[in-house]
Amino acid sequence: MGEIDPAFIQEPEHRPKLRSIEVNEIPVIDLSVYNTGDTKQIASEIGNACKKWGFFQVINHGVPLELRCRVEKVAKAFFDLPIEEKRKVKRDELNFTGYHDEEHTKNVRDWKEVFDMLIQDPTLLPASPEPDDEEITTYTNKWPEYPPEFRETCQEYAREVEKLAFKLLELISLSLGSPANRLGDYFKHQTGMLRFNYYPPCPSPELALGVGRHRDGGALTVLAQDDVGGLQIKEQSSGEWIPVKPIPNAYIINIADSLQVWSNDLYVSAEHRVVVNSERERFSIPFFFFPSHYVTVKPLEELVNEQNPAKYEEYNWGKYYVNRTGSNYKKLEAENIQIHHFKRSD
Ligand code: OGA
Ligand code: NI
Repeated sequence: MGEIDPAFIQEPEHRPKLRSIEVNEIPVIDLSVYNTGDTKQIASEIGNACKKWGFFQVINHGVPLELRCRVEKVAKAFFDLPIEEKRKVKRDELNFTGYHDEEHTKNVRDWKEVFDMLIQDPTLLPASPEPDDEEITTYTNKWPEYPPEFRETCQEYAREVEKLAFKLLELISLSLGSPANRLGDYFKHQTGMLRFNYYPPCPSPELALGVGRHRDGGALTVLAQDDVGGLQIKEQSSGEWIPVKPIPNAYIINIADSLQVWSNDLYVSAEHRVVVNSERERFSIPFFFFPSHYVTVKPLEELVNEQNPAKYEEYNWGKYYVNRTGSNYKKLEAENIQIHHFKRSD
């Protein structure tokens, strides 16, 4: 048994079975036809994937490979810096962006380091999770001094992935039987983040997790993973953890909480986690696509009727986000806020 800080050790029922990734079960969707305007077929493939898995991979997505390689290079260069240098851009009480190595998921420490940056700089968010507090805070990014091309590369990459995220929103709107522009308005002042995840080799990969089981809180996640593998999705029917096989230059897309609510549970925000290994470091780059802070999240009207009533009470995205963000960074006694807290009991 390796020696790791007990803060990282998962309860026995959450410890991973380390299995090799032989098959790819998650649907792979080719977006090349998007530009020809024939979106019906891909919208329907996406709809099926969102129902069954809440996850799919996309190829021919339009984000230049050369740019992805450059962003992976600056991320690696940043995490390679001495810890004192990384801590110069550390997350603090006033600003949650920047470097962090003490994230907890479900109150167990994750075996990883992260760097977070806002896609809109500045981004407006509620000052507190209190429902009656109307104060808004402006957040701006922290940028490291090294590597020197870090900021520009990240901004360029975020712009390209954002285009893909809007494309996917259109296809998801169509897949729900709504007009292509149905969801786009919710993202006019989007509050999303680009994150660099660095998972160092772990001496006890059977006891810890890179990221513990969780669902993403936003609308949609567009994730670049390298060739190491480690992401696992909980299959709804069997409860089994299914690994996502890395496909070079593909993006992994997952439905997050607001989309589950907008779709009135037609689509799932699936539980997922990351296993680590003792040999290779792993990098991943999620782009978390979040609505504007003032958006009220509730099941889309066109999906609700007498036979099929709304399954959720509405909630304000900004308050939900700030509530979750505040609770991610420390060990708490209680579970942080989740969409099931808004679920109607009928
Ligand atoms: C996350 C996440 C998966 C990965 O950061 O929310 O699920 O493969 N990451 O790093
Ligand atoms: Ni996640």
